[in-house]
Amino acid sequence: MANEQPKAEYWDDRGGNPVDWPESAGSHLLAEVRFWTRIMREHAMFIKLGLPFDRPDLIREAQALEQRLLDLEERVNRATVLDPNLLATLRQVVADLIDFKYRLLRLMLQSQLRPALLPLLIDHITREAVHFLTRLQMVIELPPEETHRFRAIMRRAVFWMRIMKEHVEFIIHLLDPSERALIAQAEEFLRTFTRLFQTAMDLESMSEARPESFNTVARFLDEAIARTTELRDFKAAAHELLLMSQILSTVSTPVIADHLRREADRALLELRALRDRIRVEKPLIEPSVHVGVKPSDMR
Ligand SMILES: [Fe+2]
Ligand SMILES: [Fe+2]
Repeated sequence: MANEQPKAEYWDDRGGNPVDWPESAGSHLLAEVRFWTRIMREHAMFIKLGLPFDRPDLIREAQALEQRLLDLEERVNRATVLDPNLLATLRQVVADLIDFKYRLLRLMLQSQLRPALLPLLIDHITREAVHFLTRLQMVIELPPEETHRFRAIMRRAVFWMRIMKEHVEFIIHLLDPSERALIAQAEEFLRTFTRLFQTAMDLESMSEARPESFNTVARFLDEAIARTTELRDFKAAAHELLLMSQILSTVSTPVIADHLRREADRALLELRALRDRIRVEKPLIEPSVHVGVKPSDMR
């Protein structure tokens, strides 16, 4: 319920304010934190596996971050509430991970590091980390000044559509060229998610007009949910095939496919929660009354 206040344990220690996102209230917040903490730990692992052997310093740094995130993951999984100490530790580790990712990307862009990792992948996982840090920030800070509902909804949809589109791009690059059927399937997904990402940006921009109702957003989310479900199933199937050693690729560990599948499931959960916040409303004026002409007059 949008008007229900989250439980007290999710209020800040200054006696502060409830979280701005209804779906984050109560145990949902802890589930979200568990999800992202695991994702962050896996990012550190993927980086470690993709770094060149002549940079043991960076490999050690990635390993240290992976270990810190593993310890935190265990703490978060045991926790029943997100206490201030746990929250502060989480924010610090995620901030350090963001710094590390940006440093790697900088080195790559300056041609000082050539890992087996695409620059866009580092950019992608940095965006995910920044998103998580922002969510953690929202637990203790005042929500931003009265964000408009449709704008907030579409901003989150843009985030996920871009993530899903890039996942498909990474999948295409990881597959061996001989995997023609899978590449063709992935290319079809890429067309779909490129379109959905572009449309999401258009609708986000239009929502700046602060409409009271915006039924197209509901239609858009319905399609986004349907297509993301298909992509999630594709990733789950790819994970199975990787576990059975039935795919030729440069994937360093099958965990990558499972990681992408879990992110699709998270996207679905959030897209459905966003969709639930929209009531499709009848237009205020009946089109026929408004136009005032009979169809026969239009010939
Ligand atoms: Fe990720
Ligand atoms: Fe991702």
